[in-house]
Amino acid sequence: KKVAIGVDIGGTLTKVGIVDREGNLYANTSFSTTMHQEFGDYLDELKQQIETLRGQLDFEHEVLGTGVGAPNANYYRGTIEHAANLLWKGIIPFVNEMKARFDVPTYITNDANAAAIGEMIYGKAADMKDFMVITLGTGLGSGIVSNGELIYGHDSQAGELGHVVIDPNGRYTGLGRRGGLEAYVSSTGLKRTVYFLLADRMDDSILRDVAYNDLHGEMIMDAAEKGDPIAQAAFDMTGRILGEQLANFTTFSHPEAYFLLGGLAKAGKWIFEPTQTHLEKNLLPFYQGKVKLLPSGMLDKNAAVLGAAALVWKQHEG
Ligand code: BGC
Ligand code: NA
Repeated sequence: KKVAIGVDIGGTLTKVGIVDREGNLYANTSFSTTMHQEFGDYLDELKQQIETLRGQLDFEHEVLGTGVGAPNANYYRGTIEHAANLLWKGIIPFVNEMKARFDVPTYITNDANAAAIGEMIYGKAADMKDFMVITLGTGLGSGIVSNGELIYGHDSQAGELGHVVIDPNGRYTGLGRRGGLEAYVSSTGLKRTVYFLLADRMDDSILRDVAYNDLHGEMIMDAAEKGDPIAQAAFDMTGRILGEQLANFTTFSHPEAYFLLGGLAKAGKWIFEPTQTHLEKNLLPFYQGKVKLLPSGMLDKNAAVLGAAALVWKQHEG
């Protein structure tokens, strides 16, 4: 059986899966992206993990290639360039370094682009020609599909919507710039907002004594469910900013739908309701009622792993 390896490199976790063309996942695992400082050590780890997974398959298989989705990946050059949320700085020659370790070809693209490919083939966008996938994890990523094609731009770095500046004097991003959207709208942005609100308000919040590093999305969601005013206000602010910016982004390519994916998208109504309200409210009149906000069809599957693996199928199918 012909299989492909899909790899989704996140700021926190690297997810790896062995899949077939139909999107069946035969074996998968994940490990901490930050467990090795050196990129070479990280790749050795990845190789080890892939070998372990292959050992778990109980059928004869041929690996056609490895597809990788990563922040700040350059599809044309096979590199990761100046990643905002990874330890490796500068320009990382990802594909070349993989060549030294694997005898099958490697392809790499932006993580959110991989998710958009996954949405097209295995998710809810099969019948759509214009849509965006917005990933809300450590950062904010976007995969923009226009006229049925993923937009890559001049040198593969189109769609860096997490770095659109929403406040020139605002929070710093991992690129050392101020006010980038992902500093507000992402899993880490939500945490920062909780802390910002806690500093400012005397409310009795159950999140008050949680150390920053222990705070995570599910905890904030649980607090919101229990009526915690800080947690609820943090979701409202996050959703408001996201909705306002999705309304802005609509002017670029007039998508039929925005799909939300990633840790923060799993917060359900807490993120979708304020986002929907502020999206619709800020849309120009000729877009009103025409732009859908939807949970990704891949929320419980592994969109970016499947989408990354699809880079391999694409090469083999032309
Ligand atoms: C990066 C994007 C990436 C996103 C999500 C951003 O900081 O610039 O390339 O898609 O994070 O990982
Ligand atoms: Na992108």
